[in-house]
Amino acid sequence: MPATIIVGAQWGDEGKGKATDMLADTTDLVVRYQGGNNAGHTVIVGDQVFKLHLIPSGILYPNVTPVIADGVVVDPKVMLEELDGLQARGLDAFGRVKVSGNAHLIMPYHRELDLLTERRLGKNNLGTTKRGIGPAYADKASRVGLRFQDLFDEKIFRQKLEAVLVHKNEQLAKIYNRLPMDLEEIAREYLGYAERLRPLLSDTTDLIHRELEAGKHIILEGAQGTLLDLDHGTYPFVTSSNPVAGGALTGAGLGPTHVDRVIAITKAYVTRVGTGPFPTELFDDIGERMTDVGGEYGTTTGRRRRVGWFDAVLARYANRVNGFTDIFLTKLDVLSGFETLKIATGYRYQGEVYRHFPPHQSIFHHAEPVYEDFPGWGSDISEVERYEDLPQEARDYVDAIEEASDAPVTWVSIGPARAQTLIRRDVPLVPGV
Ligand code: GDP
Ligand code: IMO
Ligand code: MG
Repeated sequence: MPATIIVGAQWGDEGKGKATDMLADTTDLVVRYQGGNNAGHTVIVGDQVFKLHLIPSGILYPNVTPVIADGVVVDPKVMLEELDGLQARGLDAFGRVKVSGNAHLIMPYHRELDLLTERRLGKNNLGTTKRGIGPAYADKASRVGLRFQDLFDEKIFRQKLEAVLVHKNEQLAKIYNRLPMDLEEIAREYLGYAERLRPLLSDTTDLIHRELEAGKHIILEGAQGTLLDLDHGTYPFVTSSNPVAGGALTGAGLGPTHVDRVIAITKAYVTRVGTGPFPTELFDDIGERMTDVGGEYGTTTGRRRRVGWFDAVLARYANRVNGFTDIFLTKLDVLSGFETLKIATGYRYQGEVYRHFPPHQSIFHHAEPVYEDFPGWGSDISEVERYEDLPQEARDYVDAIEEASDAPVTWVSIGPARAQTLIRRDVPLVPGV
């Protein structure tokens, strides 16, 4: 059976955790393909709240195998803490989670260098999550990274660490005036994790392909979002991996022909955490209210998220670079009670109007949105049970998002719980279920 990719269409935190969890009841594997514990995916089941950083959101279904594939960067300490937390809540996390031996490790010097680089940039900082993500991916590209499989081979682990630590310590001492890191201390800590993590080590590419050949269904769960993509996002204010659909293929070891659905997770407005341009950002009372009603505070760092109106230019762009087959629209409930809603349909820059994502960064940085207005709806919609029962204005707004994005809206989320999801088009991921 072909695989489904779930991808953030904006700057992350679109509700990928909720969407993955909601769609995972008929799937067999949920695979994280990129990013690391910079992600924070919230899943709410009954009165239980799960904030997942590394473990795929499918963990909550006992019949789903959660997989961390090659393209992910793994901080083993964080992973153990998360696994222990889930285990303590009654889930067999250690028994089910599979981790690729090719996934790169986040090392203590990655976290330290993330922190120091950001500090050095001063007011030009990127606002990273300071989890060591950028430095770990940089080492992967420089071919000096350590991988998950190295934890289980002390000789190789020490050899690689020794070679790389010389350079890291030079950097720490000469550029940042820091004390060197101790090889023995790092080796002891990391090799100490091996015993508990060994059962998770897996050839995940082989696993994924065997499952597909056996007719099983797979969800590839993206982290971050399209506009944070290293190649296609708002560089340099991006993360260091490829959240876009193409990244799912390289990250999990699949070809394009293995996938038949690419689901965009998109909020009914836009948020961003960290620095970087954001044309439709709101600085007024309306923005204040969106933040408060939407609970827009980061799942990983607790930072207040910046908020703004839905941006159709970015939505169309995201569709282009991902090839969406569906939209899973989230947080429509947050817009209840606003008299007028706005959607940016273009950008004005130096007398010209751009309808497509501008090719030059300066245009985007100084873009002035051109808005279309839509009437809001007064009533609370979070308890509505059928799409048809939404107020006409809400359905018109969803139609507008669909038209602007040029992809069909299949699901509309009206609250964080599983059940608060309305089906607008009946096209199940697994036919017949
Ligand atoms: P992710 O990183 O894409 O998984 O998103 P986060 O979990 O970081 O942030 C999304 C937040 O919105 C979480 O607190 C979710 O519980 C919440 N959420 C998801 N969908 C909805 C929705 O439709 N309405 C409301 N009000 N909250 C939602
Ligand atoms: P989820 O999966 C929102 C942002 C950071 C910063 C930039 C680079 O929960 O949607 P990094 O630590 O990755 O080097 O930071 O990317 N960022 C996210 N923003 N949601 C996320 O993940 C993010 N992961 C990273 O705020 O601007
Ligand atoms: Mg998040």
